[in-house]
Amino acid sequence: MKQNRSKRIVKVPEDYYYRVHETRYKKILGSGSVYRQKKMNSNVLSSWKEFVSMVNLVPGASGIEFGSGTGVNTITISQQGFQMTGIDISPTAVQKANELAKKNEEPVKFVVGDMFATNIYPESFDFAVNIWALHVVGEQHLRDKHLSECYRVLKPGGYLFLHNESSEKDILNLNEEVVIEEVKEWNIPELTNKFEMPNGEKIQVCFPDHMPSDLSGRRSLGEHKDELEKAGFRILKCYGDEMHCSPSIPGNQVMVAFAYKEK
Ligand SMILES: C[S@@+](CC[C@H](N)C(=O)[O-])C[C@H]1O[C@@H](n2cnc3c(N)ncnc32)[C@H](O)[C@@H]1O
Repeated sequence: MKQNRSKRIVKVPEDYYYRVHETRYKKILGSGSVYRQKKMNSNVLSSWKEFVSMVNLVPGASGIEFGSGTGVNTITISQQGFQMTGIDISPTAVQKANELAKKNEEPVKFVVGDMFATNIYPESFDFAVNIWALHVVGEQHLRDKHLSECYRVLKPGGYLFLHNESSEKDILNLNEEVVIEEVKEWNIPELTNKFEMPNGEKIQVCFPDHMPSDLSGRRSLGEHKDELEKAGFRILKCYGDEMHCSPSIPGNQVMVAFAYKEK
């Protein structure tokens, strides 16, 4: 019997990931604000430390951060003795990350690339990291592509660390068919956020939103485990957490996953 599925059409502009993120970084960094340049977020840092001791990562191990942005996580991990590469779709973010690495005298390489399909040789790294760059991806086929890419570039016996926003509810409604339709126009609403200048003054910067309406990059823990296993990973740990960035911002649901590529 034919299933009665409802249809949801989500419109995504062409070159969406490049256009949104490059425009966003140009506006934020072009305003002169100090953006994600200081240190790794404390919630991420405590999960990262737990990961390092659980999987027993030894100094000298090689790692890649996908969606490395302005480089704060890659540089922090490099400072712990790991050989790091960062990859991001925004040339402006990559340039800033390379400047920060130079300033910190960290031997890190940041390159422009697409986390859905890189030209990295297979089995190149001991570990891979995605911090807040998977929750910007809503389309399930692209999330699957990225997780398969993580799997591909890891050596057998390699580890994956993920820290991303989550949803309490399931997003993937199996009775619903999500139709992703590419459009040419740039129709993503503008957001205004406050950023800090080097002198501590707060300024407002407008940039395009991360996600077309009706498309969410958040997943429930169950959905997250399923997508990891589909990509071939064995899950070592996957849990929900609540992140508090500042007293004025309500807590944000996040999920953390440690996974393993079998030898
Ligand atoms: C919310 S930011 C997080 C940046 C960084 N991981 C951090 O914690 O500061 C998401 C990042 O994902 C990057 N990104 C989005 N789509 C991408 C893609 N297809 N390939 C590589 N990077 C991408 C963006 O440019 C952005 O730097």
